Amino acid sequence: MAFLGVLLLMPAIPSEAAEILGLFAHPGKSHFEFFRPIFMDLARRGHNISMYSYFPLDQPMANYTDYTFKGSPLLTDVIDLMEFEKTEWKPWGLPYKIPTYFMLHNWGMRFCDAALNSSLIADLLSSPLRYDLIILEHFANDCMTAVAHLLNAPVIALSSCAIMPWHYKRMGTPHINPIMPMNFLTYTDEMGLVDRLNNFIHFHTVNILYEWITQPATDELISQRFGFGLPPVNEIVKNTSLMLINQHYALTGLRPYAPNVVEVGGLHIGPKKPLTPVLNKIMEDSLSGVIYISWGSMVDPSSLPDHKRRALFKSIAHMKDYTFLMRWKSGKPLPHDKPGNLFTFDWLPQRDLLCHPRVKAFISHAGLLGTTEAVHCGVPMLVTPFYGDQFLNAGTLAQRGFGVIVDFGDFDEHHITRGLQTILDKGFSDNVRRSARAFRERPQSPLELAIWWIEHVVDTRGGLLLEGRARHISWFVYNSIDVYLICLAIIAIPLITIWQLVRLLRRTLGILKVVKNKKTKVQ
Ligand SMILES: *[C@@H]1O[C@H](CO)[C@@H](O)[C@H](O)[C@H]1NC(C)=O
Ligand SMILES: *[C@@H]1O[C@H](CO)[C@@H](O)[C@H](O)[C@H]1NC(C)=O
Ligand SMILES: *[C@@H]1O[C@H](CO)[C@@H](O)[C@H](O)[C@H]1NC(C)=O
Ligand SMILES: *[C@@H]1O[C@H](CO)[C@@H](O)[C@H](O)[C@H]1NC(C)=O
Repeated sequence: MAFLGVLLLMPAIPSEAAEILGLFAHPGKSHFEFFRPIFMDLARRGHNISMYSYFPLDQPMANYTDYTFKGSPLLTDVIDLMEFEKTEWKPWGLPYKIPTYFMLHNWGMRFCDAALNSSLIADLLSSPLRYDLIILEHFANDCMTAVAHLLNAPVIALSSCAIMPWHYKRMGTPHINPIMPMNFLTYTDEMGLVDRLNNFIHFHTVNILYEWITQPATDELISQRFGFGLPPVNEIVKNTSLMLINQHYALTGLRPYAPNVVEVGGLHIGPKKPLTPVLNKIMEDSLSGVIYISWGSMVDPSSLPDHKRRALFKSIAHMKDYTFLMRWKSGKPLPHDKPGNLFTFDWLPQRDLLCHPRVKAFISHAGLLGTTEAVHCGVPMLVTPFYGDQFLNAGTLAQRGFGVIVDFGDFDEHHITRGLQTILDKGFSDNVRRSARAFRERPQSPLELAIWWIEHVVDTRGGLLLEGRARHISWFVYNSIDVYLICLAIIAIPLITIWQLVRLLRRTLGILKVVKNKKTKVQ
């Protein structure tokens, strides 16, 4: 007994050093910012990381080797805000975001082609080095799973956003339409009938498009590169052992997941570092506090249309007790009407800024990394979503009282000023701080949780007993359509039988009556 007690008290035996391969062909910085801390921690724990991505480490570290793709430019400062000035088509006033699928599809094909053609992948496949685990991204394309299949090792997928619609079925994790808004819509788990209908149409439309367009196109690229011997990518991808997703119920809402899908939202938030002296001085000099503005790494803030920029600057000038800090791309001239209480920088240490006690609010685009950091630090947000999952993030953060939404169409002095007044109100910000605590308090840090699962998959060579049948059964069976049809038949057959009997009876009675009448007439 005593021996058993000692055993139970001992910390978990660390896994043996594993050879881990990272395959990340999507050049989006905000995606990789979420993935990187996992690999750095795995390297620190003695695993050997071979990382194929667009984002090499700034400072090389032991046990971590970078192989850098060059096939595509990075998706940084590529979004021109003028694009969102065009009036959107809104059938019956409802959001219509199917075009986002086509943007992601085109990106996915481009990056897949670039990666598959690269000499890096050719060298990787011809090298004798074998891997204990492959970690890749589940996003707009399944291209890298074909490479993983050729290397024949267990696969873990990461997602830097909510699960894309097409990954639910293949992970065998449920999607429940009325409570799970689709990635491109500003909905929450409180949807009216029309919203639920729109959610349903979006979810299934993009899934059908993915199956009919993206998957065949990916198979085509793969067969061009590797010949026709491989199974369809839709079959290969079902071999994914585990998915780690950048979600957390306290921010993104309660969702049912199968055990092979694990929420690790917040894992990219590292320990706090001190600010530079320049930023510290700005913090100290501000009268009422600092308001931080950033629309993320993909949006070029100098592309903000003139009238909207003037509106923002007027709101800033109007709130003269506050100091504003903004990320502004280098090389682009600053407009002359920049207010005195606005300071711009090429780059700002977002996480450390947001957790500084002098920072009172965050004006952002509801990108998931910044939103998570603001929630972690308890800073209220004013968000203007532009594309992709920003709508989904904006919907949930507004529902949970972490901030307010100002649509890009309403981005004027009145709405900005009123929005800021709302979130700077003491009641509002106190509430945000309370909710932040609910987000931060966990039985285990999200990074530890991610590492535990990754090592578990290594130890069990692909997550033994972690696979359900759901991913393999057909859509028809998965959605119980067959059972509904049988139930319908069970109810319908007796009803039809009774109805037919009644008809028959009435007809017979009718005939008898006619016969009787005839008989009476004859008499
Ligand atoms: C690299 O891995 C070894 C074990 O393979 C480990 O002892 C060492 O601490 C790791 N290096 C770093 C910098 O974490
Ligand atoms: C670690 O991986 C690199 C390839 O990325 C390889 O060259 C090296 O031999 C590996 N180290 C160990 C100790 O396995
Ligand atoms: C990749 O290779 C295919 C087939 O060899 C070719 O058609 C395609 O243009 C190449 N793409 C790039 C980006 O080099
Ligand atoms: C899935 O993984 C199993 C076990 O590793 C392997 O036998 C099978 O061929 C794989 N299937 C596909 C389609 O990759």
